[in-house]
Amino acid sequence: MEQKREQWGSRWGFILAAMGSAVGLGNIWRFSYAMGDGGGSAFLIIYLLSVLLIGFPVMLIEFSIGRRAQTDAVDAFKKIAPKTGWVVAGGMGVLAAFLILSFYGVIGGWSLRYTMAYVTGGITGDSSEFFGGFISSAVSPVLWQFLFMAITIAIVYLGVQKGIELSSKWMMPILSILLVLLAVYSLTLGGAQEAFAFMFQPDWEAFTDPSVYISAMGQAFFTLSLGMGAMLTYASYLDPSERLTSSAAIIIGLDTLFALVAGLVIFPALFAFGLDPAEGPGLVFVVLPNIFEALGGVGALVGFAFFLLLSMAAISSAISLLEVAVAYFIRKLNMSRKNVTLIVGLIIFLLGVPSSLSQGAVEITIFGASFLDFMDAFTGNLLLPLGGLIMVLFVGWTWTKKEILHHGDIGDNALGPAYLLTAKFVAPIAILFVLIIGLINW
Ligand code: PHE
Repeated sequence: MEQKREQWGSRWGFILAAMGSAVGLGNIWRFSYAMGDGGGSAFLIIYLLSVLLIGFPVMLIEFSIGRRAQTDAVDAFKKIAPKTGWVVAGGMGVLAAFLILSFYGVIGGWSLRYTMAYVTGGITGDSSEFFGGFISSAVSPVLWQFLFMAITIAIVYLGVQKGIELSSKWMMPILSILLVLLAVYSLTLGGAQEAFAFMFQPDWEAFTDPSVYISAMGQAFFTLSLGMGAMLTYASYLDPSERLTSSAAIIIGLDTLFALVAGLVIFPALFAFGLDPAEGPGLVFVVLPNIFEALGGVGALVGFAFFLLLSMAAISSAISLLEVAVAYFIRKLNMSRKNVTLIVGLIIFLLGVPSSLSQGAVEITIFGASFLDFMDAFTGNLLLPLGGLIMVLFVGWTWTKKEILHHGDIGDNALGPAYLLTAKFVAPIAILFVLIIGLINW
């Protein structure tokens, strides 16, 4: 028997859920370490260009496919273009959901662990020692990862409106306010000047490093939840009459602002405490405890609030990852949402265990990187851009001009031709170009 498909309760419910998907560990944890590794301003400039020239059209394209097809990421391609190869983008999306959520759950678990640490007095003394000790244990990080996955599973289990929409509605504003307050404080710590120079003063030499291009573009895909059908799946729960362009602009604008403010929290503090920006994926977990300690008495409270909200932002992204796979298997196996969510969620948790163990408990490396770092770079920098490329080519080159404009909600105004041009040429060429540079210099 066909089950009736769920829908969002309101347009704002959709925007907030999509924003919840976009804003997550990517804006704080991944953005800051990728920018730290990428030498600061050069990374930032390429990232911002990618968001504008690639992120915007790709998001609109994912929205158009999802809203038009009203089905999951795999079926969408089968429905719009039966018996063609485009469906590979949907298959890659479901695969990416498994791979990304597997390690995302590990970092989400770290974030929960830190929340707890601030309940029990905070982290004082050498923060990198605390962090190293925690992540290299074989048991504790796995238990926190389990807890994170259990919360994610519970929300998806409750469904689109009662779970995803409701949980996204009230978290984002609180996290934004807290982040701005922390940025203001961090800027007073004495590292502001150095941080500004690092973030905004172009260092032309850094542009000659090919790895900056791929990591900055990958970051744009990751932070906007693009290239794997998350935005496609969310848009499939929209009524076909809902508007898309302004939603995409709001989501992208706020997500980018979020990352920039997070940079203004992390880098001034980092330079004030004389830490190294190229610390890698542990960056926020090592830098932020120093700020909270320097705050004195209220530090533990602020630290608690920060990591609690970071965990919630991570959960609202994790549910969108899980939903891509769940939506697919509900239809494919014709099973109930509840059973599918439990099974898929558990499998993804298990898949994540090697990532957790690779942080010091067991030696698991691929191409010289820990298993977790490899999964992160492989999915974000390769799988997502590739998936995005296939989707833009699909829409840009197999839909008629009228279909592209109609399903993207761009009327016959000045934006129309610009959108067509980006969808057909600018975005695919830019993605291809960066992917090739990245592969040549692997
Ligand atoms: N955008 C999320 C973040 O920044 C991660 C994510 C990627 C979510 C891909 C869904 C799909 O944390």
